[in-house]
Amino acid sequence: DMGGHDTYMHKEISEQADAVDRVLRGRIDDRFSTVHLGGLNLDAREARGIRRVKILGCGTSYHAGMIGAQLIEELARIPADAEPASEFRYRNPVVDPDTLYVAVSQSGETYDVLAAVQELKRKGARVLGVVNVVGSAIAREADGGMYVHAGPEVCVVSTKCFTNTVVAFALLALHLGRIRDLSVSDGKRLIEGLRKLPAQIAEILKTEDEIKKIAEEYAGAQSMMFIGRVRGYPVALEASLKLKEISYIHAEAYPASELKHGPLALIEPALPTVAIVPDDELLEKNRAALEEIKARSGRILAVAHREQEKADHTIVVPKNETELDPILMGIPLQLLAYHTALAMGRDIDKPRNLAKSVTVE
Ligand code: M6R
Repeated sequence: DMGGHDTYMHKEISEQADAVDRVLRGRIDDRFSTVHLGGLNLDAREARGIRRVKILGCGTSYHAGMIGAQLIEELARIPADAEPASEFRYRNPVVDPDTLYVAVSQSGETYDVLAAVQELKRKGARVLGVVNVVGSAIAREADGGMYVHAGPEVCVVSTKCFTNTVVAFALLALHLGRIRDLSVSDGKRLIEGLRKLPAQIAEILKTEDEIKKIAEEYAGAQSMMFIGRVRGYPVALEASLKLKEISYIHAEAYPASELKHGPLALIEPALPTVAIVPDDELLEKNRAALEEIKARSGRILAVAHREQEKADHTIVVPKNETELDPILMGIPLQLLAYHTALAMGRDIDKPRNLAKSVTVE
């Protein structure tokens, strides 16, 4: 049942305020300015003993894991990184007993992720699952974890699950942070930020008409560039994947800082750039990148917290706490991919060559 929407993708994008409300529900502990995550099966002493966090996933879940790794490093100050599960399992990785492994999967059935989890368990590692589908293979195989509670996702491309997975990682990072060195006041600040998310998502969704107009302008492009820095880079990667999957427009995502090391050679009027430009400590650096692109007559769409004068269009998103900003900046770009594909007459819910869950090697 599409509930009045023309596609599941549109329905699922529209459900995100409620979905985020669900992942937060019952988990916030105001007394200690932290969050409760009962299913982790990880006590405080064990949590303090973690020396690294390694996050494994594929596709969109990998991108959510990249943001998760940044959140864990930032809030809990534990070295963390994300890697595609498929790469990890084929390279005979060093499995370390002081590392917490986290497997991320919407379906909980992706074979590459499941195989990585099984290999890790065979070697005695501790593995948590961040999964949407309750009772799925990865959820059962993991030592503990958290459900992202996005509700059923039918469209082949993931939208609301991406957003909810990132919020789930923010909760995990806050939880680990408050067991370690994150202060009460930072805990409070982030909890307030988390509570604001559903209303801010609703606000973003109201700008759909504006995004649709921009999408119709870009619909004919041969190729598009996506750039972001630090927190914005995984957002750029995910937005570029979304566009590729449903519009079949070729897209590349680069850290903005890498532009001058090669991809700047591609910039010309026919290659539009989507730039993630949050109001954070890197704002001036990002503005300089926009100038570089403008100097080569590149068209720019900025996703930012305020109008960017170097950009041809700016989608302004509401500001949250800096650490949580990437959660919101991805949402307008889901709509951008959607309306671009729609303008091109694509079969949005069932893009060619793709399956909802990849249960084979
Ligand atoms: O179910 P999973 O999260 O494990 O799926 C992983 C990827 O196959 C999935 O995210 C894929 O990239 C989607 N088509 C993204 O829109």
